Amino acid sequence: MTELAQPATSTSPDGEPSAREFRDLQPAARPTPPEAGPTPPGAGPTGQAEPAGQQPDWPDTARLGQVLAQLAALPPLVFAGECDLLKTRMAAVTRGEAFVLQGGDCAETFAGATADAVRGKLQTILQMAVVLTYGASVPIVKIGRLAGQFAKPRSRPTEVRDGVELPAYRGDAVNGFEFTAAARTPDPERLLRAYHCAAVTLNLCRAFTTGGYADLHQVHAWNQDFVRQSPSGQRYEGLAGEIERALSFMRACGADPEELRTVEFYSSHEALLLPYERALTRIDPVSGGSYDLSAHFLWIGERTRALDGAHVDFASTISNPIGVKIGPTATPDGLRQLIRKLSPDGDPGRLTLITRLGARHIRALLPPLIEAATTEGIPVAWVCDPMHGNTFEAPSGYKTRRLEDILDEVQGFFEVHRSLGTHPGGIHIEFTGDNVTECVGGSHAIIAEDLHQRYETACDPRLNRSQSLDLAFTVAESYRS
Ligand code: PEP
Ligand code: CO
Repeated sequence: MTELAQPATSTSPDGEPSAREFRDLQPAARPTPPEAGPTPPGAGPTGQAEPAGQQPDWPDTARLGQVLAQLAALPPLVFAGECDLLKTRMAAVTRGEAFVLQGGDCAETFAGATADAVRGKLQTILQMAVVLTYGASVPIVKIGRLAGQFAKPRSRPTEVRDGVELPAYRGDAVNGFEFTAAARTPDPERLLRAYHCAAVTLNLCRAFTTGGYADLHQVHAWNQDFVRQSPSGQRYEGLAGEIERALSFMRACGADPEELRTVEFYSSHEALLLPYERALTRIDPVSGGSYDLSAHFLWIGERTRALDGAHVDFASTISNPIGVKIGPTATPDGLRQLIRKLSPDGDPGRLTLITRLGARHIRALLPPLIEAATTEGIPVAWVCDPMHGNTFEAPSGYKTRRLEDILDEVQGFFEVHRSLGTHPGGIHIEFTGDNVTECVGGSHAIIAEDLHQRYETACDPRLNRSQSLDLAFTVAESYRS
């Protein structure tokens, strides 16, 4: 992440040092206080009132307007030049020259913005990335699903418990998880807390990834605590030993490259709360383009990817690299239209399609989608989210996923791309650095009866660190073959 910590050192395409990151960024639009009434602000930047799905009913719209004005005056969380650099990395993925590892919590919480929790997630990403880089011999683009993943789309707007109906939990940026009327009432102050928690988290990530912690010579040190004892942790230990010997060999030869000491790391989240995203969108005075500087990479969720919806409209106006989740209801024709709308210039690295079709359907549903995209002639990166199509309820009532299904969907993703000659560009997963019991299976087998032991997610079930390593080893093998 050298470029993130030292933006002034990044270079323009002709190799000259660029000061783009320090450009005087202007708010893209003065945030207008939303109209009174229960309808949330959803009008697109074009001024058209496209329907914005999945927005909370903010009761205090006057306060919401003030909060948005405050957010618009706060510094950006990332820089436009960093987003451009990620786009060049994603362009390499599009060309089949790199692989993306994107992951983190389903829903981050404010309470989770601690040094320990963030370090745990980074350790997981670093360990997985090492397994993939070494095992698959491919550069890994590392993108955290963190420092901003505080808002959730919901299948139902309300939740009923024992006959009591309250607004559904929509993520810490909107309301509280606790099942009380007070906690579940959307509170605009939370948008400011989300911004500050994102800033703290990103600051930690920048420090961990450039301050020596991500130095490849630390490859053993990331394998700490519970994971070291697990079968995948032991397998990792063997691999780390090989890497250490290779590093010693290089040092003995006089090679000690600087590239091994830091890691380039990017942030991402679902661009769900459009007023928040717009408040953090700034105009780049050099190119005149808009960048949503709440994160490097933003994606549109499965529930809000309607072609004429406000989310797609918003994403089409920003210059960041973006993604769209593609679920089983997507049609080849609809996909072609989405691609044209979101990447009209065909800029490589601009658009990533994150498929989440389910292990049982991917082999049948993915080929026509890839063929549709290919005939469109606009380059896209293909990333597999093997989580969201494989969720089910265990008899105990816990929402869970089987590692077996997750691995099978990834396997299907590789098979389909190999058969069509396209590039399986990466994985998008939900994990945590902790030893939770939310998904079943893995080399350190968790069974359905174990789920209650450490079920801590604020939303969907996540892989724990040992299961994440199991996944990384399997992906590395599939990629290599
Ligand atoms: C998510 O990524 O947590 C999510 C809600 O995914 P999807 O939009 O694919 O359902
Ligand atoms: Co999720």
